[in-house]
Amino acid sequence: MNETGFNPLYEKVITDLVEQQYSVVENFFSDAEVLVLRESLLAKYEEDMFKKSAIGNMANEVIVEAIRGDFIFWLDESSCNAAERNFFDKINDFTAYLNRTCFMGIADQEFHYAVYPPGTFYKRHLDTFQNDNRRKLSIVCYLNHEDWLPEYGGELTLYQVKGDTETALNVYPVQGRMVIFESQILEHEVKPVKQERLSITGWLKSRPEILF
Ligand code: OGA
Ligand code: MN
Repeated sequence: MNETGFNPLYEKVITDLVEQQYSVVENFFSDAEVLVLRESLLAKYEEDMFKKSAIGNMANEVIVEAIRGDFIFWLDESSCNAAERNFFDKINDFTAYLNRTCFMGIADQEFHYAVYPPGTFYKRHLDTFQNDNRRKLSIVCYLNHEDWLPEYGGELTLYQVKGDTETALNVYPVQGRMVIFESQILEHEVKPVKQERLSITGWLKSRPEILF
């Protein structure tokens, strides 16, 4: 951050979110930061620490491979390694900026690593639950090698609605690319992958709403 507290990268994300409900940034994390995150994801994956992803939450969790086929590992900020600590420090700095400059009211967060083995996908969905609307911003950072080719598939397709037209935007999961989007607005899907696809994915959340 510079002396004025103005962060051009964060400002670009904020402007994008206001104008188009999503932002794609290439340089939120350095190549070195992405590499150590990939190493730490792979170490945990090889140790069988991942579980099959589910849809729904809490008692409603069900595994439905026809909807979602990735494997995930939930990160715990209180017991993470140096690569993950650095990841959370940067995310927390970004969150503090959003709260300070946009009064976003982000009070909580959750992140997991994700691995999509070849043949898997995640069908079109919204990142909120029927019984919990605290997820405000979805963040995905891709931990693939830099030579991800379009023929490997696995693009994130964001469905943006303007008036009565819908536009589908494809974002390829190239190394270090980060996508941030409005969890409650943008439906999206992960197209079938032909190569193992790695990412760190999470949500910035508001405080639970208390209804009187
Ligand atoms: C998700 C999701 C997108 C991606 O995990 O909810 O939509 O590009 N991920 O991995
Ligand atoms: Mn999603």
